Amino acid sequence: MSFIIGIDGPAGSGKGTLTKLIAKKFGLTHIDTGITYRAVAKAVLDNNIKLDEKEKIIEIARNVDIQIVPEENVDKVFLNGKDVTQDIRSKEVTAIVSQVSSIKEVRLLMVELQRKLAKGKNVIMEGRDICTYVFPNADIKIYLKASLEERARRRFEENKQKGINMSYEEILESIKLRDENDMHKEIGSLQVAEDSIVVDTTGLEIEQSLEKLSKIIEERIKEIKI
Ligand code: DC
Repeated sequence: MSFIIGIDGPAGSGKGTLTKLIAKKFGLTHIDTGITYRAVAKAVLDNNIKLDEKEKIIEIARNVDIQIVPEENVDKVFLNGKDVTQDIRSKEVTAIVSQVSSIKEVRLLMVELQRKLAKGKNVIMEGRDICTYVFPNADIKIYLKASLEERARRRFEENKQKGINMSYEEILESIKLRDENDMHKEIGSLQVAEDSIVVDTTGLEIEQSLEKLSKIIEERIKEIKI
């Protein structure tokens, strides 16, 4: 038996930072499902495969070995044994990941991996379709949102700290495009699950969002008497 908190939301909604903090606070395993799609996208680039070569992309997804090693700040990611923790956040990967993750067969394979990663553990899992598709029966379901401009501004600051060179305008356009793609997938598109609690983080500092989410989680834990 495992206890699952699912957190969905668009790029820059604060999912990454908040889920890590909640994992620490509540003693849960943190799983960022975006990593699995980013790793496939990285393998697609490494193998010089074009986005219209669908069968080749599916073959890659079927054969990749993705290992996620939890670390204090950034989880380490290994693709076929090679450390790609930094590379999966590159501009190039970010530019194609949404399209790669739109391929139904790729999604089915990654969802299988994501469910395996959670097996037997108490987890907080972040993504786009956790509450609607990966774990529709999650114990706690949350949808995080924030305005497009605020999400772009956050990503800009984050990138600056990581030494990733992208202008605010570039990020805004890239997020807009990804939102559009993420919301129109055949399966697993970004949607608010019927029974998810929607939390808007626009204008909130991380500490304020953390407090809001912690309250929701604590109340729900009391309700379901874990
Ligand atoms: O959360 P992220 O930006 O690292 O996600 C990268 C991409 O993967 C994003 O464009 C949407 C996709 N994704 C998805 O389709 N389903 C998920 N559960 C997680 C991410």
